[in-house]
Amino acid sequence: MCKTPLHEFLAELPKCEHHLHLEGCLSPSLLFTLAAKNDISLPSADEDATYASPETLSERYSHFTNLDDFLQYYYRGIQVLVHQEDFEMLAWEYFTTAKRDGVHHAEVFFDPQSHTERGVSFDMVVEGFNAARARAEKELGITSQLIMCFLRHMPVQSAAETMASAVAGGHFDIKEGSKERAIIGLGLDSSEVGFRPELFVDQFHEGKERGLRRTAHAGEEGDPSYISGALDTLHTERIDHGIRLVEDPELLGRVVDNKVLLTVCPLSNVCLQAVKHVSEVPIKTFLEAGVMFSINSDDPAYFGGYILNNYCAVQEAFDLSMDEWKTVARNSIHGSWVGERRKTELLASLDACMKKHAGRSSVST
Ligand code: ADE
Ligand code: ZN
Repeated sequence: MCKTPLHEFLAELPKCEHHLHLEGCLSPSLLFTLAAKNDISLPSADEDATYASPETLSERYSHFTNLDDFLQYYYRGIQVLVHQEDFEMLAWEYFTTAKRDGVHHAEVFFDPQSHTERGVSFDMVVEGFNAARARAEKELGITSQLIMCFLRHMPVQSAAETMASAVAGGHFDIKEGSKERAIIGLGLDSSEVGFRPELFVDQFHEGKERGLRRTAHAGEEGDPSYISGALDTLHTERIDHGIRLVEDPELLGRVVDNKVLLTVCPLSNVCLQAVKHVSEVPIKTFLEAGVMFSINSDDPAYFGGYILNNYCAVQEAFDLSMDEWKTVARNSIHGSWVGERRKTELLASLDACMKKHAGRSSVST
């Protein structure tokens, strides 16, 4: 909850989330619960005192030094996820919190290689996540899509095998009844610097041929050439993070002209020390230049906040007007990978919210 006069409006604003790692929703308490249930041993106090309790782990999460420092905890945590019900529970926790925060549509990432390399079946992970997605649509009215990410620190051969597993499992097939794919698109995540997007050109080329949507983390820690590399060689339609785009005005112009959506994650950028404060995330620059972006939570269990906390942090830092928020919400809808019918519904919810809160001012009286 923020202290700005727009808090109620921000809470009710219909949100689309495009940058959320399901594995990044594993809270310290769920991590400890699943470790006990699945008989997974966590590091002993001698090896790593941070695993003494959920509280000590939470405390450690409050001072990551960079992306790789965070990722070592993220990958270690993932090991407690073993059974289909674990994946379903994790995703369900996300959807219930997303509902509370006003999310109407979510496009969520998962990292298949972080499971298959431990002998956990690809198909089972997808089944678990999709069970939660189906329940979220039925019980919470949240529509969603699943995006599988390749881990860029792993050999390209592993990405090729992951692609083959998804094909063999029929996860890219358009299902007769729903006209949807279990997995709608490809993403690229993990350590950025030194692992250039160009490495994964074959997988993204195949994805394009198969009609999959495409995005990649770029410009989080990497310089703008990682962004142009993703756009030029992987033909991504979006860029995840992309905050370093401001360092290359010409590239920024291209992103505007081509309506590339950036999926910005302000609290993540602060936690991983890409910026010192949310006010350094180029929100105003992007708005003024006409860059389309959405605001997202990335790994909420690690970065101290879900999507509404991110909206609030932006409001506290930038004091945006309701019209500016309308632009953010509208661009988030237009940049979503959903059909026109769902977009029309989402736009109607946005209009209703704007009408309900008309007259509200960002300036406290
Ligand atoms: N995997 C999970 N969160 C990530 C992030 N913020 N950047 C890159 N890879 C990730
Ligand atoms: Zn991310």
